[in-house]
Amino acid sequence: MAMNPLYKAALLDHYRNPRNRGDPSDAQVVRRGRNPQCGDDVEIGVDFDGEILRRVRFRGRGCSICIASASIMTEATSGRSRDQAWRIADFVQRWFGKGPVEDAPPDLLQPLSPVRDIPARRRCVLLAWEALESALSGEPER
Ligand code: FES
Repeated sequence: MAMNPLYKAALLDHYRNPRNRGDPSDAQVVRRGRNPQCGDDVEIGVDFDGEILRRVRFRGRGCSICIASASIMTEATSGRSRDQAWRIADFVQRWFGKGPVEDAPPDLLQPLSPVRDIPARRRCVLLAWEALESALSGEPER
């Protein structure tokens, strides 16, 4: 299936101009996503205001898809409630292989859609989202 050029351009833009990139070490909750196969490593930080994710940021090194996905994750979840952020993260997990998706993806996630045609890169997408799920779960970092 041919990649939608608009989504591909949007994905590249997230890589070249990542949103919410910054040192997360002073955030309320900090988590990492690592891919031992390639060494890519993303650190995310979430600041909560009650049940709202007031600010989500990240830093790290990774391939273009990994960085773009982290950027999209911060944009899609900043300002959302914990429940909304869970639902978005769950959608991404299912969309990238964990299970069926009934709904169309939210617009903010559309730039990731070309990667669904490249199963070998699914891990690249999921690194930041798994770190987010860990942050939302409230469990201590493993
Ligand atoms: Fe390492 Fe993409 S190649 S996360």
